[in-house]
Amino acid sequence: MDNRAIGVFDSGLGGLTVVKELHKILPNENIVYLGDTGRVPYGSRSRETIIKYAMQDINFLKKKDIKMIVAACGTVSSTLPREISENLGLPYADVILPSAQEACALTAHGRIGVVGTSASMRSNAYGKTIRNIRGDVRVFGNACPLLVHLVENGLVQPDNQITRLTVEMYLKPLMEENIDTLILGCTHYPIIYDIFNQILDYNVTLIDPGKCTARYVKKILTANGMLAERTKTGVTQYNVTDQVSGFDQTASLFLGEPVSGSLNQVELV
Ligand code: DGL
Repeated sequence: MDNRAIGVFDSGLGGLTVVKELHKILPNENIVYLGDTGRVPYGSRSRETIIKYAMQDINFLKKKDIKMIVAACGTVSSTLPREISENLGLPYADVILPSAQEACALTAHGRIGVVGTSASMRSNAYGKTIRNIRGDVRVFGNACPLLVHLVENGLVQPDNQITRLTVEMYLKPLMEENIDTLILGCTHYPIIYDIFNQILDYNVTLIDPGKCTARYVKKILTANGMLAERTKTGVTQYNVTDQVSGFDQTASLFLGEPVSGSLNQVELV
């Protein structure tokens, strides 16, 4: 048993879609969240910059009393080299493997689509991971650079015409490939899950990285005997690198509940 917190980070608020699911399936765990809101988005930046930012995020979390690190960001997950993530001195989870495993298990005809940021698509991390699990599937990717901006700006209502048209544009080439499963390869996308579903006419299985990653974290903590022993609900501490005003309102959209827990503006070094 281990009562230390789970450290979760993202370039912005998208990682809260993982926290939302952790709250549901591991309600007694403490969580320390870091959202680098001062520098979001990461997905349009170079590999070197993304690795540098990710290391600053990880070093911030490592100074907290945490037992595990979760990269709740598709961009970091697909860019951070294994030699780094496997040598952090703490268990590490990212969103790629859990989403890839789920897609491989659920695909009906072996035609999997992936949407994510430009950096995630450039890395081909999803494609490589999927083909390591199942050599018989085809993977089709498309970068969606505008979506993080739309989501961070709150244009997430299912009837929002700007977001709908943008998603339609990004899905068109994937629909032409007759995908049967779609990985939402960026943790900002589950918040517009309904828009994806409507445009795909509910015919494609959607893989939500928040849900898969939370289940994966639970599996790792359970396997290592590291679940918290607490009987009361855990506390979540939120840290952001930009101003805190407006956080509660946007964050509650991602969390699907009002924000409860402390909130700090922090600097990364
Ligand atoms: N949530 C991040 C991801 O999953 C956001 C992308 C970004 O910062 O560009 O990729």
